[in-house]
Amino acid sequence: MNRLEQFGHGGDRWTAGERFGIHPADFVDFSANINPLGPPESVVHLLQEALKDSGVPLLSQYPDPDCRGLRQALAEKLDVEPEYLAVGNGGAEWIDLAAAVFQPDRVGLMLPSFAEYAAAAEKRGLPIVTATVNPQRGWQPDRRQLLQLIHRSDLVYLGHPNNPTGTLLPLALLEEAAEEAAQAGTVLVVDEAFLDFVEHGEQHSLIRRISVFPTTVLLRSMTKFYALPGLRLGFAVSHPDNIRRLRQYQIPWSVNGLAQAAGVAALKDRDFEKRTRTWLTEERSFLLRELDQLDGVEVFPGEVNYFLLKLADQPRGRFTAQWLQERMGRQGIMIRDCSTYSGLDERYVRVAVRSREENRRLVEALRRVLGRVGVDQR
Ligand SMILES: Cc1ncc(COP(=O)(O)O)c(C=O)c1O
Repeated sequence: MNRLEQFGHGGDRWTAGERFGIHPADFVDFSANINPLGPPESVVHLLQEALKDSGVPLLSQYPDPDCRGLRQALAEKLDVEPEYLAVGNGGAEWIDLAAAVFQPDRVGLMLPSFAEYAAAAEKRGLPIVTATVNPQRGWQPDRRQLLQLIHRSDLVYLGHPNNPTGTLLPLALLEEAAEEAAQAGTVLVVDEAFLDFVEHGEQHSLIRRISVFPTTVLLRSMTKFYALPGLRLGFAVSHPDNIRRLRQYQIPWSVNGLAQAAGVAALKDRDFEKRTRTWLTEERSFLLRELDQLDGVEVFPGEVNYFLLKLADQPRGRFTAQWLQERMGRQGIMIRDCSTYSGLDERYVRVAVRSREENRRLVEALRRVLGRVGVDQR
């Protein structure tokens, strides 16, 4: 039987559809962490107009190979020079290309973390050096562990916030890591794909001081906050020398015209941003409160729009993420089985924060399923 994560990630409605005999569109997906308010109306409207070919013919012309409009819009919003920016086909493109571009002898990972960091190294036969964080220390690396990782490898990937734990590193530690990486000649790839969901996220980023960290590459995604995973859009922020190198490895026109136009429109939509913040503040605390009340589940709150959960051992044995995922899937609810993350085991699952109605549905289903523990566990 295929795992729902057979292609490495959550959000695979097609595999879920085959497995549970439900139409892919009919699942409520808590396994990918996408903003349920999006995509912004303004983006949908723009794409509809574009497809009528009434504006710039986005389908019939090659897209701007330099993503000029979007880079300019990003530069203004983030207050960085456009030379510090490279737009990609999702953050995933830069995660992958970083391992090709910088040709490290060894790649450093802090586990558990997003699977594509290891995949980028493995597909190129690059040895991986790891350090592991644990729940006893709030999933935080200690200083020595992080600095050692930087010295033991030539390229380190750090999730910030980390997926699946949802945790942020203290900014002072991140700065020290970036300084140490520069001295050691190690490339530090800080993946900020979920930073937009963090309250005052920019204050947790090295972006303000990126010019003083010559070996640090920040990665951002526009697919999660703006709910555009089907279009693919992300970008890197780094010293122009690194940006030039990254760009050399990129497939020409890797960012299609619709994605570029959607990105510009999304960045302008401040109302969407505001509504998202209000939704997240309310729904994060609602879902956290509800999940905390469930028997048999330990909740790790993290700082973002998803929660890592640990299924508690029961008097009559342990029940697993796959067991839970199966029972939720039959009810049309997708959750992420986190046993596929190195550094976690079969007791971990992850769920996204969604709308009030969907969050209620999730909690009710969990309550029903977990209430049957020991009855149909096997
Ligand atoms: C931590 C993290 N980084 C990056 C990505 C890639 O995002 P995208 O390529 O859609 O921008 C993901 C997607 O799940 C992720 O979880």
